[in-house]
Order: sequence, then structure tokens, then C-alpha cells
Amino acid sequence: MPSFARFTPLLSSLPATVPFVGPEAIERNRGLIVRARIGANESGFGPAPSVVAAMAEAASDTWHYSDPENFELKQALAAHLGCSPTNIAVGEGIDALLGHIVRMIIEPGMPVVTSLGAYPTFNFHVAGYGGRLVTAPYVQDREDLAGLLELVKRENAPLVYFANPDNPMGSWWNADAVAEFAEALPETCLLILDEAYCETAPDGTTPALSRLIDRPNVMRTRTLSKAYGLAGARVGYVITTPENAQAFDKIRNHFGMARISVAGALAALKDQAYLTDVLQKISASRDAISDIARANGLLPLVSATNFVAIDCGRDGAYARAIVDGLMEHGVFIRMPGVAPLNRCIRISTGLPQDMTLLAEALPQVLKTIG
Ligand SMILES: Cc1ncc(COP(=O)(O)O)c(C=O)c1O
Repeated sequence: MPSFARFTPLLSSLPATVPFVGPEAIERNRGLIVRARIGANESGFGPAPSVVAAMAEAASDTWHYSDPENFELKQALAAHLGCSPTNIAVGEGIDALLGHIVRMIIEPGMPVVTSLGAYPTFNFHVAGYGGRLVTAPYVQDREDLAGLLELVKRENAPLVYFANPDNPMGSWWNADAVAEFAEALPETCLLILDEAYCETAPDGTTPALSRLIDRPNVMRTRTLSKAYGLAGARVGYVITTPENAQAFDKIRNHFGMARISVAGALAALKDQAYLTDVLQKISASRDAISDIARANGLLPLVSATNFVAIDCGRDGAYARAIVDGLMEHGVFIRMPGVAPLNRCIRISTGLPQDMTLLAEALPQVLKTIG
């Protein structure tokens, strides 16, 4: 049966693809069971026990919609960050917020600048609003700030996306370089500075809020999905000027936040001791992944995130064979989608038992695929 005849021409022109195939789909489609879930850059360390308790307590009130203004969460985020609640917009993860930002700015045919092989969900939203992606290749496995700036100017682009640290390579620029990039952009170009991994990055990676917060052409996106271990709760936020933050109210889903998730986020922000502990575990796990890679003759890249990209030294087909081979052993990992980044595999940090499974499976897979 054909689909409805009056879908927009834009929708009809889009491929029915999703940016990611989830581990659940892999299990269903290949009849396999995930034993080590270290592919989606979630936190295998989980949320804090205090967060789980707060969410459990909130469960019986789940018949309430959440406060559509997200007042308490904005207050808590502002106190945590040292800015005003008016500087914050809240949404169902960075992913939803990226969609809103693209919708605010992009009309069909407009150029949008990003790096070739950077976070695909952003590209997905750009396609959904009819934008035209213009990409700068990574240089030495890092996003190329000068290249991005040049493209913005050449295309007179109204929107540029840059993640610091980045996914899928785990690379980063220091705070000064990032702030200088933001300051060098024309006022007519909005920067999405995606800081999904800011908690796991070394000191000096994230520009001070005060340096960029008054710039109407900067929106910084952050999430509780990564270090805070709340990926399934879907809590993200934007830090920007009050006027920009208000613009989200024109288009956001006002009852989009799950009440249980907000309770979890409030508890997570309070439990900074747990976060500190998890950050140490993430760092130790990055080391463990890197050791396993080296022990197998592969080259781990230095990472500022909760995952490690590993250069497998050959092409995308070889890296794909490793990803698929590991899955046969129940080890779910992913890989970058675009050459030359796709010579790498990408492994999320996880529990010691995940590392044991990885250490057992990887040499077997490498031997099998030769
Ligand atoms: C760079 C980047 N931005 C955003 C996200 C998604 O964040 P959220 O779970 O808040 O939608 C991810 C998740 O992998 C990411 O790598």
C-alpha cells in the first residue's frame, strides 16, 4: 500500500532510515544476546542509588504531568552551573533539543555546517527540515575548527554544529580554542556547541559559561545521559541567552519531560560524590579498553569521553567485521560511519565484567577474520 498521498514533498523525499540500529534490534534480527552493552556510550555504571530511589519514589505520582515550565529542574541546573534559570531550556535529551534548534533556523535548502562523520542525529534533524549539509573532514582524527569556520563563511551558513569532546573519535579542543572559534563566527551563524561529554573531559576543555553566555549565536547542549547514567530517562538542556532559551517555548513539547526523569535528574545533580566516583571508573575503563586494544595490536586513540575509538589499521570493512564478530560473542560495540574514521571501532566504557568479555572475545574475532 502506498503511504498517505499528501505527505509533504520533503517527507516523501527522505529515506526511511534511522540514525542508529539499537542493540535490541540487533538481538532481534540476529538472534543474539547482548552480554556486554558497550556500544551506545551509555553509562554501564548506572545512575546513583540516590537517583534510583528518587525515581522510585516519584513513580506513584506518575499520573501527574510534569511541571510544563520545568521550574525546579531549571533552578537546580542554574545553581549547579552558576548561571540564571533564564539561561536554560530543558528537553528530552540533547537529541530532541537539536531538532528544535534546527527547526528554529533551517528552511529547505539552507546550508548547515558540521564535520564529516560527526554525530549523525544532528544530520538526521537537518535532513528532516530540508537543510543542506556541508561538511568539513576531520583532520588528524579531530574536528577541524578552521575548516568549519571557513565553510560557514563560504556558505554564509546560519548554523554550525561542533561537539567538544566529539563523538565518534573522543577527541577534543581546549577551552580557549573553542571559545575563539565561537567568537570568530559571524553573528549570522548560530553555533551548537554540543557538550554531551563535558563531565568526562580533562580540566580546561570546556569554556567558562561566562565567556559565551551573552552571545545570541551560541547554544550549548548538555545531557544527563552520559556521566550521570540517565540515558533512558531523556534529560538534556541548553545553555544560552534568556531570549534564545525562551524561543524553545514556542515549539517545544511542553509536557515532554517525564516526571520520573525530572525527579531522577534533580537527585543526580545533588549527588556529585557519585558523579566523582563514576568519573574515576570511566577513566579506569578507558585505560582498560586501551590496554586490551594494544594487547591485540590495535591503536587506541586518546579519549576525553566515556568511550574509546580504536584504530584497527585497515578499512571500514575490516572494522565492520570486528564489530559484527564481537556481537557474535555478545559484545555490542559500534563504529564511525564514514571514511576515514570508519577504520576505527568505538567501545564505550563499562564494568570490569564487560572488559573481561571484550578481552576474551577480541583476540578470537581478530583470529577468525584474519
Ligand atoms: C555528541 C552527542 N550529542 C548528543 C548525544 C545524545 O544525548 P541525549 O541522550 O541527551 O539525547 C550523544 C549520544 O551519544 C552524543 O554523542
